[in-house]
Amino acid sequence: MRSRPADAGHRSRGLISLFIGCVSASYTDSDEEDDVSPREKLQKSTKGFDDFCVRNINQAPFGRREIEIAEQEMPGIMALRKRAGDDKPLKGAKIVGCTHINAQTAVLLETLVELGACVRWAACNIYSTQNEVAAALAEAGFPVFAWRGETEEDFWWCIDKCVNAENWQPNMILDDGGDATHLMIKKYPAMFKMVKGIVEESVTGVHRLYQLSKAGKLTVTAMNVNDSVTKMKFDNLYSCRESVIDSLKRATDVMFGGKQVLVCGYGEVGKGCCQALKGLGCVVFISEIDPICALQACMDGLRVVKANEVIRQVDIVITATGNKNVITREMMDKMKNGTIVCNMGHSNTEIDVNSLRTPDLTWEKVRNQVDHVIWPDGKRIVLLAEGRLVNLSCSSIPSFVISITACTQALALIELFNAPPGRYKSDVYLLPKKMDEYVASLHLPSFDAHLSELTDEQAKYMGLNKAGPFKPNYYRY
Ligand SMILES: NC(=O)c1ccc[n+]([C@@H]2O[C@H](COP(=O)([O-])OP(=O)(O)OC[C@H]3O[C@@H](n4cnc5c(N)ncnc54)[C@H](O)[C@@H]3O)[C@@H](O)[C@H]2O)c1
Ligand SMILES: *[C@@H]1O[C@H](CO)[C@@H](O)[C@H](O)[C@H]1NC(C)=O
Ligand SMILES: *[C@@H]1O[C@H](CO)[C@@H](O)[C@H](O)[C@H]1NC(C)=O
Ligand SMILES: *[C@@H]1O[C@H](CO)[C@@H](O)[C@H](O)[C@H]1NC(C)=O
Repeated sequence: MRSRPADAGHRSRGLISLFIGCVSASYTDSDEEDDVSPREKLQKSTKGFDDFCVRNINQAPFGRREIEIAEQEMPGIMALRKRAGDDKPLKGAKIVGCTHINAQTAVLLETLVELGACVRWAACNIYSTQNEVAAALAEAGFPVFAWRGETEEDFWWCIDKCVNAENWQPNMILDDGGDATHLMIKKYPAMFKMVKGIVEESVTGVHRLYQLSKAGKLTVTAMNVNDSVTKMKFDNLYSCRESVIDSLKRATDVMFGGKQVLVCGYGEVGKGCCQALKGLGCVVFISEIDPICALQACMDGLRVVKANEVIRQVDIVITATGNKNVITREMMDKMKNGTIVCNMGHSNTEIDVNSLRTPDLTWEKVRNQVDHVIWPDGKRIVLLAEGRLVNLSCSSIPSFVISITACTQALALIELFNAPPGRYKSDVYLLPKKMDEYVASLHLPSFDAHLSELTDEQAKYMGLNKAGPFKPNYYRY
């Protein structure tokens, strides 16, 4: 796996990885020409800049190309860059960033700088850094501390380098997982007190913030961008609609037309999966516990069944409930030879995979992320990603989806940085709906979509401001 054509290794997560090759290649493909830790190496950009630590600065040209490709498919964030480029709404912002480092987040970082911010950046994950992109950022003069395959110690060292530097008092944190926030609270409490705002991306990080807030230990304002509507729709409905087929095809080469599929759960994720499956001519069955979602499935022309009623006949089983043990060993005992079983929900408990680890069953690894579990009579079940989220392991994330997230993060930073004193207390907030609407509006021109405007009369009739927000907070879309 290590010797791939030079260019293939640089296509990770970007648009192109959708079309060529298997994505796991781009994740694990390594360009570690040597075993020297980047921390031991002295590197300089061509301009003599050396406040960074990346695998190999010479890869910068490849990374720059990746960033340029991502820019093409991230119209919202590029529009924000253009529109706010003159106002510099982040002038004076000193941002510590801790996110995945890939072509798409590079577009975010460079946008923040364009809007006036100073940044120092580390990776939120020891495996996900695109080394060539980190190199391109360093070459462009940004203090970036990240490489793929960091040790745990490197990981914290990198974040520390972003927090604690000469002539640097950060006033904003952009976090994905809460690690930069955590380190600052623990190690630099005085510095942390000077921070104006935290923007947190991940479920875990948001959870940590709510806990801090409950314990009365949150001394700054934080914004939870995990739950903004636009992001949620894209992460769940639209993204899964694209990735379910992609994941299954890459893993199994299955043909979908005429296949019988059981989808457990008809929430956002389930709905997205079903739209795609129906489009390819699958016969789709739904299992649901909620009568409202069950009725929605009926109205969408799907058969609502108890899993057990169809478990002997279906070709593919997909879980999307967020629940546990939705597919049990008993059900898997009944499945027919060759049934594909996978999970699109967040938790890896939906399929009771542990129940398959018994002496009577044989596991055969047939591919990366694909196992055959073989029953004593020779029956095989095709289990994907060992029941973990199949789309993470077997699919790529379109840049467009990340453009939505990146815009949301940028606008949350702008909002917190510019908020007049008193608007926010030391607590966790959701992105104001108006900002959420703005994120969506930034993406409309790329579809040549033309938004209608309220007349004065209509605005009065509806009791709305002509500039939004257009819906009450409880509206579900
Ligand atoms: N794979 C992905 O790309 C992806 C993306 C976003 C979220 N998720 C995860 O997917 C899961 C579902 O997300 P969602 O937004 O659709 O949530 P949701 O709450 O909208 O939908 C889940 C549905 O499952 C139903 N359900 C619960 N237990 C069930 C059971 N035992 N049998 C049948 N149906 C059952 C619920 O009634 C609900 O309608 C969550 O864990 C979420 O974190 C996955
Ligand atoms: C974050 O979003 C996910 C799904 O979009 C949701 O299930 C979860 O409750 C949110 N987390 C928090 C802590 O708000
Ligand atoms: C894959 O699943 C994760 C977690 O549920 C979600 O955040 C992401 O948007 C999904 N990606 C795609 C490409 O569907
Ligand atoms: C299951 O399918 C495989 C592949 O088609 C076949 O080789 C095997 O004999 C089948 N096993 C049973 C028990 O039907």
